[in-house]
Amino acid sequence: MILVTGGAGYIGSHTCLELLNSGYEVTVIDNLSNSSSESLKRVEHLTGTEIIFYEGDIRDPQILNRIFSEHNIDAVIHFAGLKSVGESVDNPHLYYENNVTGSINLFKIMDKFSCKNLVFSSSATVYGEVKTVPVHENFPLAPTNPYGNTKRHIEDILKDISSADHSWSVSLLRYFNPIGAHESGRIGEDPRGIPNNLLPYISKVAAGKLSKLKVFGDDYDTPDGTGIRDYIHVVDLARGHIKALEKMKVLKGLITVNLGTGNGYSVFEVLRAFEIASKKTIPFVVTQRRTGDISVCYADVSYAKEILNWQAEFDINRMCTDIWRWQNQNPNGYED
Ligand code: NAD
Ligand code: UFG
Repeated sequence: MILVTGGAGYIGSHTCLELLNSGYEVTVIDNLSNSSSESLKRVEHLTGTEIIFYEGDIRDPQILNRIFSEHNIDAVIHFAGLKSVGESVDNPHLYYENNVTGSINLFKIMDKFSCKNLVFSSSATVYGEVKTVPVHENFPLAPTNPYGNTKRHIEDILKDISSADHSWSVSLLRYFNPIGAHESGRIGEDPRGIPNNLLPYISKVAAGKLSKLKVFGDDYDTPDGTGIRDYIHVVDLARGHIKALEKMKVLKGLITVNLGTGNGYSVFEVLRAFEIASKKTIPFVVTQRRTGDISVCYADVSYAKEILNWQAEFDINRMCTDIWRWQNQNPNGYED
């Protein structure tokens, strides 16, 4: 049995689907602070398999004790966390409390029940402003905001735990920019309010729900002046977690792995790919740079290939096509 914390969320729900399709049994804990349990119902429907769901908070030791007592948990995939950079700047204690305290609570209870296999959602944000690309796992860590700091702290805690007790198996997976949706159009990203991230924003403009995209700066030192990122299809990302679980069966200790495609796309390139996928013209205006944004970031993916035997399969056109299908079939997200 795999426990997925934050399993009702965007990446969690896609990972639950891949887990069930690979024959794993799945239990989810999620406090639904940024998601809807409808995502899990849809995953159950798509796979024809049940998910055991606990609505609860990872900061609550009682519910975690209950889950570990009621099920034989072999491994945990730990997605539960808050992820808005801006909100973390305004409310750092909330981020430390939710992400760091919540994680410590989880690790303590895993230890108590001798469940020592963990896959953790880290982020490329731990690298901060990188000097060169592609970004290799051994680059120095220098997050530039409280959200990134929480990821770095949790990584450090896990490094210390696995050095103290060699029976732990830990995969720190550093995601680049997850986008896309399952090809069924039944599950996808459903941000609350006005989206902060590029792809959810573009898809709302294409759908006529927002008037135009604001391109945050066209004066970066890149071929077309806009920021470059490594966008990765959420289904590829989810499959990376299955590979990490498989690796744990044969490898103890801690590994740190970038999950990206290794390719960078500019804002204008993504915009064009989305226009082709949606057959819509997407109005935009170039504005000032967004504070804290970096110019270029894409992953060195050689270690993921070597250690996990994993590499991304889907390209940017497929990512945009899948987002557009999700947007069209669910104009109001999971409320539909
Ligand atoms: P998401 O918000 O859709 O999913 C996170 C889930 O965790 C939500 O369902 C939320 O309700 C739940 N949650 C939050 N705090 C909780 C708590 N204390 N107890 C129980 N449940 C809690 O986000 P996502 O995009 O699916 O991200 C999943 C993980 O991956 C997060 O840890 C995030 O920081 C990390 N990550 C995301 C991105 C990205 O761009 N989406 C990039 C890098 C890393
Ligand atoms: N952008 C725009 N307009 C928008 C939104 C974004 O031009 O409305 C640009 C940004 O300037 C950047 C690119 O699109 O160049 C991507 O921006 P996102 O907000 O989609 O993604 P970021 O790379 O800024 O950040 C994301 C997550 C962070 C995470 C980071 C690294 O939001 O939480 O990836 O994993 F830390």
